[in-house]
Amino acid sequence: MTQVHQYEVVVVGAGGAGLMAALYASRKAKTAVISKLYPTRSHTGTAQGGIGAALGNLEEDHPEWHTFDTVKGSDYLGDQDAIEFMCNEAPGIVYELEHMGLPFDRTPDGRIMQRPFGGHTNNITGKPVRRACHAADRTGHMILQTLYQQCIKNNVVFFDEFQAVDLIMVNGQAAGVVAVELATGELHVFHAKAVIFATGGHGRIWEVTSNAYSFTGDGPAMVLRHGLPLEDMEFFQFHPTGIYKLGILITEGVRGEGGVLINGKGERFMERYAPRVKDLASRDVVSRAIYLEIREGRGVNGKNYVYLDVRPETVNKYAELDGRTNPDGTPYRVTGEQILKKLPDIIDFCRTYLGVDPVTQPMPIQPTAHYAMGGIPTTMYGEVISDAKNTIVPGLYAAGECACVSVHGANRLGTNSLLDLVVFGKQAGLRAAEFAKGASFQPLPADPTDYARAQLERFRTADGSENAFHIAQEMRHEMFENMGVFRTEEGMTHALNKIRELKERMRHVRVSDTGKIFNLELMNAWELSNLLDLAEVTTISALARKESRGAHAREDYPKRDDQNWLKHTMVWMDEKGETRLDYKPVVITKYQPKERTY
Ligand code: FUM
Repeated sequence: MTQVHQYEVVVVGAGGAGLMAALYASRKAKTAVISKLYPTRSHTGTAQGGIGAALGNLEEDHPEWHTFDTVKGSDYLGDQDAIEFMCNEAPGIVYELEHMGLPFDRTPDGRIMQRPFGGHTNNITGKPVRRACHAADRTGHMILQTLYQQCIKNNVVFFDEFQAVDLIMVNGQAAGVVAVELATGELHVFHAKAVIFATGGHGRIWEVTSNAYSFTGDGPAMVLRHGLPLEDMEFFQFHPTGIYKLGILITEGVRGEGGVLINGKGERFMERYAPRVKDLASRDVVSRAIYLEIREGRGVNGKNYVYLDVRPETVNKYAELDGRTNPDGTPYRVTGEQILKKLPDIIDFCRTYLGVDPVTQPMPIQPTAHYAMGGIPTTMYGEVISDAKNTIVPGLYAAGECACVSVHGANRLGTNSLLDLVVFGKQAGLRAAEFAKGASFQPLPADPTDYARAQLERFRTADGSENAFHIAQEMRHEMFENMGVFRTEEGMTHALNKIRELKERMRHVRVSDTGKIFNLELMNAWELSNLLDLAEVTTISALARKESRGAHAREDYPKRDDQNWLKHTMVWMDEKGETRLDYKPVVITKYQPKERTY
């Protein structure tokens, strides 16, 4: 017998967005979180450098500057009403986290410490501004721990290691989810008045990625299968500094603390690409610069990497050349001990995975697939929408990386993801609880587990000998080669054909483990089918957009084209796998699109 649980609000995912949503929902409604991981293992825990808020603790700053930087960083594709809302909420929500107990680093007089980050500027001088509030290079980890403790205190019920595999929709309204209890392999039904998806990103589509194994796009894939659209899927961010070959994130905070990028000829090449802010340009700009350096033969030792150098002598040399000062006007200088204190985790990662000590050696890095700007389209209150007219789907909410509000447009600024999680997680939680209070439980279908059971059984019983691991490898390689930092019609068409071939082969994947207990082989196969669907709609959306904007850099259409392409993409996939595109206007309030320079 399938177990049925009933909660007014069910949150899927226990990262920053899911926990913030659950915390706020639980203050008004009976709330449960289901998570395929133990909550504090969620990917938010890997976010390093900081959360953006114009606190102005070390120098002048304003939410309006943060708003403008985010609009500009988005290459004018972000919706300006939502961006303004997020940046105005930022200081209050950071203080709220502080009051919950989050151990931020401190200024000597006890205020929250802030560091510069890419694309965040003083709007008058155009120079980098200290806006990233941080807890060493473990800011996401601290947010996750703090919110989890608050949820426990607030009696949120957790179903840990339950993996959601289907959304239940009744008469166009969300009515719950179906989940696999990983320990037993049994399907459970979570009957709800409101469902919030906070399932994170889908960066495991690419070969070199900063994303955890769990980032398989489960939420967006489930939504897509229910005939709902995804928005702006062509925009996927490559973070400039992943550990060479491994992709593990090396925080932009390294450059915020004065680290510089150096090519194989020993040049600080960002001076050529972003003369004003140099290494602290937005991520799309820096990732492209690294690729161009490598392509023109200036990688280190002729290889596909450059150096990120945070050795004190390098930092101090360039700080002097740039005239960088401390807030009190004294020259900015660092010691090895200070670097170690400010960036303990990345130093540890480099020592462990590379045998390189960043205090005495430069780090080999390359751009790494990092963040989905696109996802499940929502209003700025987390309500999922079903079309280009912004029609709201009753009872369904999304927040965090799986959602597209859209505040990041074509390129996200560093620190704005942690901000997005808490600002829009809170809004989704509030709205979902309010909705649940005025709604009744929808009657469930005769067997809500039908579809999920059939999907999983297909992998247990398929004919043929295809292996999911090999299909995943081929997908990642193809997407990295042809749907990465630079794109062309030819490369993207190749990628689309390959993804379709892999989807066909996926029909013949048979898992060798036929057991029920922690059958991760089965779950990985199901996750791979999610990734393949998302890879397909990403490629289709990208092929259609004949311009370059933010993270979508086409060599065959190298210019931004506001006349034809200042609009959001919406993509649908029907039961037969056929896709359809539509477009939605960008919300522009104060800032007319301009050419971007850094
Ligand atoms: O570089 C970083 O610390 C990453 C932050 C982010 O993606 O916002």
